[in-house]
Amino acid sequence: MCGIVGYIGHREAYPVILKGLQRLEYRGYDSAGIALYDGNEIILSKTKGKVADLESKVSNLPSFSGNLGIGHTRWATHGVPNDENSHPHFSNSGDLVIIHNGIIENYSALKKELIKRGYTFSSDTDTEVLINLIEDIQKNSNLKLGKAVQVALNQVVGAYAIAVFDVKKPNEIVVARLGSPLAIGVGENEFFIASDASPFIEYTNNAVYLEDEEMAVVRLKKPIKIRKIKDDSLVSPYIQELKINLEQIEKGGYDHFMLKEIFEQPHAIKDTYRGRLLIDEGIIKMAGIEDNMGKFLNANRIIIVACGTSWHAGLVAEYIIEDLVRVPVEVEYASEFRYRNPVINDKDIVIAISQSGETADTLAAIKLAKEKGAFVFGVCNVVGSTISRETHAGAYTHAGPEIGVASTKAFTTQITVLTLIALRLAKAKGTMSSTDFRRHLVELETIPEKVEEVLKSDALSKEIASIYKDAKNFLYLGRGFNFPVALEGALKLKEISYIHAEGYPAAEMKHGPIALIDENMPIAVIATKYGHYEKVVSNIQEIKSRKGKIIAVVTKGDEQVRDLADHVIEVPETLELLSPLLTTIPLQLLSYHIAVMLGRNVDQPRNLAKSVTVE
Ligand code: G6P
Repeated sequence: MCGIVGYIGHREAYPVILKGLQRLEYRGYDSAGIALYDGNEIILSKTKGKVADLESKVSNLPSFSGNLGIGHTRWATHGVPNDENSHPHFSNSGDLVIIHNGIIENYSALKKELIKRGYTFSSDTDTEVLINLIEDIQKNSNLKLGKAVQVALNQVVGAYAIAVFDVKKPNEIVVARLGSPLAIGVGENEFFIASDASPFIEYTNNAVYLEDEEMAVVRLKKPIKIRKIKDDSLVSPYIQELKINLEQIEKGGYDHFMLKEIFEQPHAIKDTYRGRLLIDEGIIKMAGIEDNMGKFLNANRIIIVACGTSWHAGLVAEYIIEDLVRVPVEVEYASEFRYRNPVINDKDIVIAISQSGETADTLAAIKLAKEKGAFVFGVCNVVGSTISRETHAGAYTHAGPEIGVASTKAFTTQITVLTLIALRLAKAKGTMSSTDFRRHLVELETIPEKVEEVLKSDALSKEIASIYKDAKNFLYLGRGFNFPVALEGALKLKEISYIHAEGYPAAEMKHGPIALIDENMPIAVIATKYGHYEKVVSNIQEIKSRKGKIIAVVTKGDEQVRDLADHVIEVPETLELLSPLLTTIPLQLLSYHIAVMLGRNVDQPRNLAKSVTVE
């Protein structure tokens, strides 16, 4: 939530920061702003709305130039989205300016104190309190900016990634993090600050990721100095070489990131199993599992914690792991788990799933599980993310950057990793025969081709979308491994089209949702030919008798459902437990086309953010 960007060096800062904010806009897009040092004073432009609104505001200014600056794209927490509440925020003297991602929880008490001391506030934000606190400390104790920031942060409760600079010392930016990500791009005689590496990847591959409770002074012509905020100890910066490239974070000819990411799935799934699924040797190799095999084999149960789409991937994994490994699995919303005093101990394994690796609730659930002695394994997409560092071990999905707020390739690659884990554990535990194991490996390897085939139904999904785009409600039904796919299909539609949709286990339909069915209700049913097929066909009959409109996702060649349904989308045959990797694709496409036809902002749907770093 909220994206922050900063630059100090020899380039014009404005275009660097502006482009950086566009790349981070997936994090929040209520308002945007940039402050620059123009060689003389700090100049500021900020506005409610998108980064594009900021750009047009700046285009009306006679000049907006400088080699040092900070910028922000906001997802509002304290204070409605308006010009005043937009970042950056000045201190009362106008000397200091700040951008902030996170929440200062004790801002109200601090604000009262500052008001008593004569400070005034022009916004409702917690951030303006923080910058004035820093100013107050700097003035009263005659401290350098870095020191004043450190003292202030020691008085603050909450979460933050901040960047601050001082007009009196325009050769440095002070940054700090606790609970919100912050990366520093290290160029030649220039530095970039950002919530993730995408704003600076075209300038440098070298990055330093701050850890929680660390701050850094980024000064021209000087090495970065990192300190622990609490005890002031120095930390030597670890410069990582990043592997992502510019192409991966641009649209590459597609109208939207979401569509690009849907079509990237064959490749992304292959990248996920590359080097892990070794067909010739007939094995699965995953370092994070091998190194901790004893823990996995002795575990009494596995608890999966996640949010949103990642939670749906966890639900698919529950079905797969229990089926193959015969160990009990529970799937929990991280936000519930963290506050409900769960029974958990050192015989439990917690698997935390998170695309971004930054979700605040998932992170808190991990911390709780660790405190209670559980071994925590992370499944993340973003390399170097907080969750990937906070967990004892883990496996990356290697899906590449996912920019569209509605998660697509993250979901299928999460399922792929979790399937690999289940297969590896089943092999080690002996709950699966060698022949069966090999059969699964061979089939998993063919999934990218099969996804490619499903993607050919794009035109059909578009046609179906044009028929139902004005529906007020949608129902999604599935059973077994495809029940979570129904939930995910409904979530995708809600997120980007704003049409109300519910996902249900098909058999549960008769305990409530059936009351909603009439001739205006489109119902997407996953009716692939597996164990529950006949039962799902009966559910389809029940819908048909009530005149509901049936959009069925079926196994190629199915005739029975074709005769009953209003529309069918075929997917190739595969093993039942791998079928979610195929059945989810038409539902992604259907939502995408409906949202486009309704004129929605597909990549940045209202009120949502890609990375939810507040609880
Ligand atoms: C937000 C995003 C979802 C995502 C969820 C969990 O709500 O909009 O797409 O599934 O957070 O995010 P994570 O990064 O932890 O997977």
